[in-house]
Amino acid sequence: MKLLFLGLGLLKAIAAEYTQVHIALAGDDGRGNSNGMAVSWQTEEDTQATVVKYGLSSDDMPMVETGTSSTYYSTWDHHTVLADLAPDTKYFYAVGDGETFSETFQFTTSPEGGESVTFAVWGDLGLVNGDSTREYLEENKEDIDLIFHLGDVGYADDSFLHLGCLFRFCYEEKFNEYMESMEPIVSEIPYHVMPGNHEADCHDPACLLSAERRDKLSNFTAYNSRFRMPSEESGGVMNMWHSFNYGPVHFVALDLETGFPGAAEEKRYVLKCGGFGDQLTWLREDLEEAVKHREERPWIVLGGHHPMYNGGMVDPKMAAAIEPLLAEFGVDVFFTGHVHSYERDWPVFNSTTVVKSYSNPGIPTHVMIGGPGNDEMRDAQRRMEELLEEHPGLDPSRVSTQAWYDSLVEVNSDMIAVTDFTHFGIGIVHADMESFKMQYVQTTSGEVFDEFTLTK
Ligand SMILES: *[C@@H]1O[C@H](CO)[C@@H](O)[C@H](O)[C@H]1NC(C)=O
Ligand SMILES: *[C@@H]1O[C@H](CO)[C@@H](O)[C@H](O)[C@H]1NC(C)=O
Repeated sequence: MKLLFLGLGLLKAIAAEYTQVHIALAGDDGRGNSNGMAVSWQTEEDTQATVVKYGLSSDDMPMVETGTSSTYYSTWDHHTVLADLAPDTKYFYAVGDGETFSETFQFTTSPEGGESVTFAVWGDLGLVNGDSTREYLEENKEDIDLIFHLGDVGYADDSFLHLGCLFRFCYEEKFNEYMESMEPIVSEIPYHVMPGNHEADCHDPACLLSAERRDKLSNFTAYNSRFRMPSEESGGVMNMWHSFNYGPVHFVALDLETGFPGAAEEKRYVLKCGGFGDQLTWLREDLEEAVKHREERPWIVLGGHHPMYNGGMVDPKMAAAIEPLLAEFGVDVFFTGHVHSYERDWPVFNSTTVVKSYSNPGIPTHVMIGGPGNDEMRDAQRRMEELLEEHPGLDPSRVSTQAWYDSLVEVNSDMIAVTDFTHFGIGIVHADMESFKMQYVQTTSGEVFDEFTLTK
């Protein structure tokens, strides 16, 4: 029995040598389009080299690129940037150490100009309760070009809530498991992330009692080490903030945790964090550049973790820091998460609904998509379902909660167009030069629960 176990363990170790493969857009063709791809993965030990072999067919991968490896705690993160790729082209690739390689994966590079694109958008996806969303994405991955994940990437810091992990150190293991669960999707679709509060630190008993873990796993360190966003290309900072262009869209990924005065974790979450630099000056410069290219890329989309508007309330510090820029540069959509539900607002500015239409509103539409499924969600949803049963007169697309799900209320803010508190869901956006259409899909059924189309 023991031998059998050993044998199985060994097999698993060999097969799983290169794990958590994921990609993100990289490079710049000189006209603002990404012309490269960052390929990232993990190994348990460092390897003799960090190598991606790639080519235009799965039987012929003659090109080779080397990258770098680093460790922040125990496992090794590998990042390699494949540069100067042809636009809108399918490539095949495998990752490895130059001698042995993983299975073969594939991706398609960025379109060259304003071709229409489809991207998926959500915040707050975890290992637990995330299966319906992962299954939906796997089934539909042919139709999704890019993923924009609005922070809270895996919920590793909730690992102590998992069976057997209350006092055992599980943070790294759960982060690995989340990334493994995403590999079939994000090894093929560029996965763009931004920080959420759950990326800030490891704070379970096994972490807080260890000076080494407190030191190595605070200040967004695991998150910044595991990904390679195009911040070098866009003048951003680590994986905290960056921007990129894709088809007719300029995407900006923001740090709404530490990146403005009065941000929720500006100086500390459980442990000290923050101090990544002057995001607001960068944002102004980035938007100044983006509006120069509006003819080529009509849509400017911002994403961040914490909502500016939610339930008819405003985050006054965030609004003071960021809202004037949204108006000045005509940002089209502001996507956020953090609250584990869906809320689409009407175009709102200065806490006032400006117009109840998406036809060239001139000010941003705020959409919160924080309920794709995570460790903290299912119990809250069950409570909402019970409340809806107790109040059969309420319209489920027009409800909100009060005092942590103790009571249910009809939304009475005229800022809010539609809500969904009881399903797991994500946004699927189809953008072309004329229109920006978002569908909110409930991933358990695949049904479109809500949609809106922005036009210029
Ligand atoms: C967090 O990391 C950034 C970037 O390395 C650094 O500038 C900042 O001082 C760190 N903050 C803390 C509290 O250690
Ligand atoms: C925002 O609204 C407040 C009160 O409703 C008003 O005093 C202020 O001038 C408005 N600010 C802008 C920039 O419109």
